[in-house]
Amino acid sequence: MEYLILKNSDLKVSRIGMGGCPMGQYGWGNVQENELIEAVHSAIDLGITLFDTADTYGLGQSEITLGKALGKRRRDVVIASKFGVRIENGKTFYDNSPEYIEKALDDSLRRLRTDYIDLYQVHYRDEKTPIEDVVDKLESLKKQGKIRYYGLSNIHENDKDELKYFIGSFVSFQDEYSLACRKNERDIRLISDELQMTPITWGSLGQGILTGKYNKNVKFNSDDRRSRDVYVNFHGEKLLKNLEIVDEMKIIGLNHDRPVSAVAIRFILDYLEDSVVLCGAKKAEQIIGNIQGTDWNLSESELDELDRISI
Ligand SMILES: NC(=O)c1ccc[n+]([C@@H]2O[C@H](COP(=O)([O-])OP(=O)(O)OC[C@H]3O[C@@H](n4cnc5c(N)ncnc54)[C@H](OP(=O)(O)O)[C@@H]3O)[C@@H](O)[C@H]2O)c1
Repeated sequence: MEYLILKNSDLKVSRIGMGGCPMGQYGWGNVQENELIEAVHSAIDLGITLFDTADTYGLGQSEITLGKALGKRRRDVVIASKFGVRIENGKTFYDNSPEYIEKALDDSLRRLRTDYIDLYQVHYRDEKTPIEDVVDKLESLKKQGKIRYYGLSNIHENDKDELKYFIGSFVSFQDEYSLACRKNERDIRLISDELQMTPITWGSLGQGILTGKYNKNVKFNSDDRRSRDVYVNFHGEKLLKNLEIVDEMKIIGLNHDRPVSAVAIRFILDYLEDSVVLCGAKKAEQIIGNIQGTDWNLSESELDELDRISI
């Protein structure tokens, strides 16, 4: 496994992290708790130390399952969770207010069965709470030992002006990035360089399309979020384009004796220096496939080809 230290911190994490969205067991089709628990243990056994979740995933279920799965191994790993998205009476809204942060954190700690979160992330900015107030609150929680570091998520170039006074405070940021979604690439590089935060990618497998197991006839049941058009990777022209990319990935995977998912992960690790790649997984066998994304490199010509066909 490859590891790095998040910028402006002493927090060492594996460059592949286990994503906890499917662990919410909601909107991802068939997901079994016993298989998730087995997957968490496989991940730790294979060198993954970063586990990402959020209070909203399955309305808390992801944190509950992660806490249960980790048990005594909690101190061996880095837990990253998120706050700021509230779902109440069927309505979703963003809230970064200091009062809410305090409550959200206490609820997450209880669900995770721990007394600290290593990396506490603002899931989405609420466009209301001044960033100074968010930082003040997070600093006070850090002093209390309830969190070790804090980060951001889903921020872009237009957030730079607000954030430039807080260089060194936030250690990381998350954004969607994969061979199927390169629209945020410029912003990710810019924020990483200018605001000195480590990029952590989500949707790194294009929600599963970049694993090579789907074809143009893919159809999900209504209990799977990917049945909805908003999950563009599985619909229309975008699906066909993704399958062309996957065809090239299969050739490259064969050359290296690696599964397609490993090529998807390796592309990000090689192309975005100092990045961390989150991959959601439902079973141990998926972790075993994804772990093969580390400890090798794509050649320059393979990187060029993947760059060309995915742009
Ligand atoms: N900050 C944010 O706003 C934000 C947003 C979204 C996600 N995230 C984080 O990023 C993580 C990753 O994103 P994601 O989970 O949405 O999508 P993803 O990692 O691109 O795709 C995950 C899905 O791919 C399939 N898969 C994974 N490994 C596989 C393998 N080796 N072989 C075959 N299929 C495999 C599984 O679904 P199937 O088996 O059903 O195909 C799995 O649920 C999340 O879990 C979450 O922690 C953050």
